[in-house]
Amino acid sequence: MSLPERPKRLGPYDVIAKIAGGGMATIYMGRAKDANGVERVAAIKVIRHEMTRNENVVQMFIDEATLLARLSHPNISRTLENGVTGDRHFIAMELLIGRTLFDVWEELVARKLSLRFDVAAWICARVASALHYAHELTDEHGTPLAVIHRDVNPSNIFLTYDGEVKLFDFGLAKTVGRRAKSAEGIVKGKLPYLAPEQVMQFPYDRRADIFMLGTTLWELVTMRRLFKRDDDVETVKAVRTFPVPDPRRLVQGFPDALATILTKALERNREHRYATAADMARDLDALVSPAIAAQIPGIISAILDALFEGERAKQMGWLRTTQAIRTMPRVTIPPPVPVPAVRDAQTDSQRPSASRQPSASKQPSASKIPSASKLPSASKIPHASKLPPISVPPPRSVPPPRSVPPPRSERPSIRPPPPTPSKLRR
Ligand SMILES: Nc1ncnc2c1ncn2[C@@H]1O[C@H](COP(=O)(O)OP(=O)(O)O)[C@@H](O)[C@H]1O
Ligand SMILES: [Mg+2]
Repeated sequence: MSLPERPKRLGPYDVIAKIAGGGMATIYMGRAKDANGVERVAAIKVIRHEMTRNENVVQMFIDEATLLARLSHPNISRTLENGVTGDRHFIAMELLIGRTLFDVWEELVARKLSLRFDVAAWICARVASALHYAHELTDEHGTPLAVIHRDVNPSNIFLTYDGEVKLFDFGLAKTVGRRAKSAEGIVKGKLPYLAPEQVMQFPYDRRADIFMLGTTLWELVTMRRLFKRDDDVETVKAVRTFPVPDPRRLVQGFPDALATILTKALERNREHRYATAADMARDLDALVSPAIAAQIPGIISAILDALFEGERAKQMGWLRTTQAIRTMPRVTIPPPVPVPAVRDAQTDSQRPSASRQPSASKQPSASKIPSASKLPSASKIPHASKLPPISVPPPRSVPPPRSVPPPRSERPSIRPPPPTPSKLRR
C-alpha cells in the first residue's frame, strides 16, 4: 500500500490543506508557531511522494530552493525557508492570496471579455523586471549566475488581491552551479511558450525568457492562444514557423506601440529580440502614464473580485493569524469596478479561428463558471471603442484608498470559516 501523499508536518509547519498540485511538486498551506506563540502561514512546495526516490528530481528541487533563497524582488514570491522532513524536501514561501494569470485569462475568455491593454502591459512589465533581476543575479563573489527561468507562462504568474504581480516557479531555472543533470533530448518548460531555439535544442540564453513573456503578452492582449495546437508536434512546428499574427488585425484599436513591443519580443532570431528584459520592461512601462500605473493595482484587485466572486473571502479564511492580519489585502476600489478595465472581446473585428482558441480541455468546467445571472452583463461593459486608449484615465474616478468599504460579504470576518480542502481554489 502506498503511503499517503499529504504530509502532516513539514519542518515547523503543520500542513493544513492542499492549494495546488503539479507534475513534480504539490503546494500546501502550512501554519507554524514561533517560540512566542506567534503564528505564521506559508505556501509550502514539496516534492510529490512518488518522486522522492528520483535523485535528479530531488536535486532539481534543491537547486530551486538554493536559487530561491538568493532571490529578493517585489515581483518574485518571497521564500521564507526551506528544509527536509524525512525524505520530503520543502520550500516555504509567503502565501499569496489571488489567482494565476492563466486563471484570469481563462475566465475572461469564458466571459468574452479581455484585459485593457495598459493593464496587460503593466503586468508584463512587472514580470519583465522580475526576470531582469533574476538574469542579472550574481553569487556572493559577484560571479554572474546566468539564470534563465525557462518556464515563463501565465500559470507561473500570479495576481494578488493587493494588485501585486508575482513570478514564481523557478523549478526549471538554469543557473551556473546547478547540480541537477539536464537529460539529453528533453525540452523543459511549457511547449506553447518556449522560444524557437529551445524547441530546436539550440543554445539559448536569457532572451528565451523574453520570447516566452512575449507569447504570454500576445495571448493576454488578444485573448487567443498563439502557438498552442492540439498535439505537441504541431505546437513545436507552430513555435518554429507559424507567422505571429499582427494583433492590430485581430483586435480593434490595438495600439501600434504595443504591437511594436510584441514584434520585438517575439523575434525568432534572438539577435533581433530585446537584448534584456529591462529593455522590454522600459518600453512596456512607457505605454502607461504614472497616474494610470498608480491605479492599476486597484484595478487588478477589482478584476479578481468581479471574476471570482466570493474567492477573496474564501482565501482570507485561510489567514486567521496575526501575520495574516498584517498582510491583509487592501481594498482600494469597490469590487464591481472591473468594468472599465475590461474590453468586450465580442467587439473585436475578427473572431478567433478554432485553432487559436484554447482547447476544450483548457476551458473552465461548467462548475467553475458562476451562474449567468452573476456574470457582469455585456450591456454593462463599455464597448471597446468607448474605452480609453492607453494613457487616458479610465472613465470612473477611483475613490481614495479605503474610502469605500467593500460590501459586507467581501469583508474578512473576524472569524472566517475554517478552510476545508475541498473548498480551496484551483
Ligand atoms: N506562494 C504561493 N502562494 C499561493 N499559491 C501558490 C504559491 N506558489 C505556488 N502557488 C500555486 O501553486 C501552483 C503551482 O506552483 P508552482 O511553483 O508553479 O509549481 P509547479 O512546479 O508544480 O508548476 C501555482 O500555479 C499557484 O497556483
Ligand atoms: Mg508552475
